[in-house]
Amino acid sequence: MTVHFIGAGPGAPDLLTLRGRDLIAAAPVCLYAGSLVPEGVLAHCPRDARIINTAPMSLDDIIEEMASAHAAGHDVARLHSGDLSVWSAMGEQLRRLDALGIPYDVTPGVPSFSAAAAALDKELTLPGLTQSVVLTRTSGRATAVPEAETLANFARTKAVLAIHLSIHMLDRVVEDLTPHYGADCPVAIVWRASWPDERILRSTLAEVVEAVGQELDRTALIMVGRTLDARDFSESRLYADDYDRRFRPRGTAPRFPETG
Ligand SMILES: C[S@@+](CC[C@H](N)C(=O)[O-])C[C@H]1O[C@@H](n2cnc3c(N)ncnc32)[C@H](O)[C@@H]1O
Repeated sequence: MTVHFIGAGPGAPDLLTLRGRDLIAAAPVCLYAGSLVPEGVLAHCPRDARIINTAPMSLDDIIEEMASAHAAGHDVARLHSGDLSVWSAMGEQLRRLDALGIPYDVTPGVPSFSAAAAALDKELTLPGLTQSVVLTRTSGRATAVPEAETLANFARTKAVLAIHLSIHMLDRVVEDLTPHYGADCPVAIVWRASWPDERILRSTLAEVVEAVGQELDRTALIMVGRTLDARDFSESRLYADDYDRRFRPRGTAPRFPETG
């Protein structure tokens, strides 16, 4: 018996890994985080599966469900939105399962920031502009962000920011970022990336608050950074004709000589 933690992806049911789909299809119990996991993903559950929305449950109740499945020898598919490595509340569940000696494994999912970048048709790291993406958030009622991790601190790097769980604080976000990125810096808001009601707004730090208006309560990502509208960037050296690399040796003394 194993509890399979599975990243259910950003919303579109076909943005689920094949491994995740097969684990869901084989598990007699499915616990899913109801607010963001789409019904289409649950369609992979066996017809007679015990399917439970954990949104209204406490951590104790969730672990109790897993312990009951363990006692019965039933695998559990545990679904969280996006990928499990960020803001999934998986860590506390794993710690409890370790204490109870209940086995588990983890299957990654498509994170919402990549779904948002795809919706925008953007590569976020462009040569000569930025080579880093910061996945971050502002403090919320449930979780405070450590003092050193302020938006202003990340903004000093000029990296692309993918700001989660913060659309309701958009005015504060703009206030904190404008001194570092400049008022003309591009911002994109992607509401419910990959869902049928996905919406995209492209704007600037100066104009985004007015452009968004009242739409501050739907699930959304705030993306900020110069690569969001850049046309003037360098090409990667990777495909340059004279770039010597293992799979395409170049020059009189290639770094990785062909053998055999
Ligand atoms: C609790 S976090 C979960 C993040 C998730 N584990 C991931 O990998 O993206 C929820 C936040 O992620 C972002 N989010 C999740 N799904 C999204 C989607 N489909 N479109 C836009 N933002 C999304 C929003 O900022 C939302 O407030």
